[in-house]
Amino acid sequence: MLSYRHSFHAGNFADVLKHLVLIKILEHLRKKDNAFSCIDTHSGPGDYVLTGDYASKNKEFENGITQLWQLTDLPEDLNTYVKLIKKFNNTDSLLRYPGSPLIIQQFLRSKDHLSLYELHSTEIELLKTSVNRDRRIQAFHADGLSSAINLLPPKQHRGLVFIDPSYEIKSDYDLVTQSLIKMHKRFATGIYALWYPVIDRKRNQQLEHALKTSGLKNIQLVELGIKEDSPEHGMTSSGMIVINPPWTLAADMQKTLPWLSKTLGVDGAGSYRIETLVAE
Ligand SMILES: C[S@@+](CC[C@H](N)C(=O)[O-])C[C@H]1O[C@@H](n2cnc3c(N)ncnc32)[C@H](O)[C@@H]1O
Repeated sequence: MLSYRHSFHAGNFADVLKHLVLIKILEHLRKKDNAFSCIDTHSGPGDYVLTGDYASKNKEFENGITQLWQLTDLPEDLNTYVKLIKKFNNTDSLLRYPGSPLIIQQFLRSKDHLSLYELHSTEIELLKTSVNRDRRIQAFHADGLSSAINLLPPKQHRGLVFIDPSYEIKSDYDLVTQSLIKMHKRFATGIYALWYPVIDRKRNQQLEHALKTSGLKNIQLVELGIKEDSPEHGMTSSGMIVINPPWTLAADMQKTLPWLSKTLGVDGAGSYRIETLVAE
């Protein structure tokens, strides 16, 4: 049974990096006139009320979006990100945070398409309400990893598969690698963006090794840390692994992550990584 609810974590430092990278990919896809298709394999409920019971329990957003909200001299890509979050808030106060489905929705043109998957029975109902009968979007109550493969390649032959598991089950680390290999076989030119937490660094090293030896090419990793790795600290860093990234992604992150790691790092312990795991 699934117990994870993303509402506890909405807008935290991991969401900042995850959604920053997501926006860079969507901007890239929109540069061409041709239609694109997105698949969000782990959608969550879509929309988060930061004053609600779940989000306000640990207030994780306070070391995330809140730190950026009032600043006027942000690096350019963070400015774009904060502006987008502001669109979901009618006042100057930060009350609401959009999840990946609503962020992707903002970039869809009438010809583009978004498929959403969510397995949790409460979250899928909230998700359907969040995307509010948009004819460009379909939301499925199903396992995103196994179902998404059946949609590939998309008829548009351009697009993104966004994979954001909660890693509740340790085997998820192996499962994502296997799924990426299968998906890539069917749609080799697609962009794949995988989120990961750093809780136990050994697992991340295994994941990176599995991808490096998978035969997949053109893999970029970007990571943001707020504390030093430690088994007692919970999630200390998190990152995105992007296959077939926009060619400017590494350079763009180089302009943003040094600043972001300094700003969000706890007691000066911020860090970042920008690495090519496998070249083109
Ligand atoms: C990290 S949250 C998603 C957050 C969302 N992508 C965002 O950026 O706003 C992960 C979600 O995946 C759901 N989930 C877990 N296993 C799943 C699976 N196999 N297929 C689809 N959804 C799943 C969980 O219920 C949870 O809502």
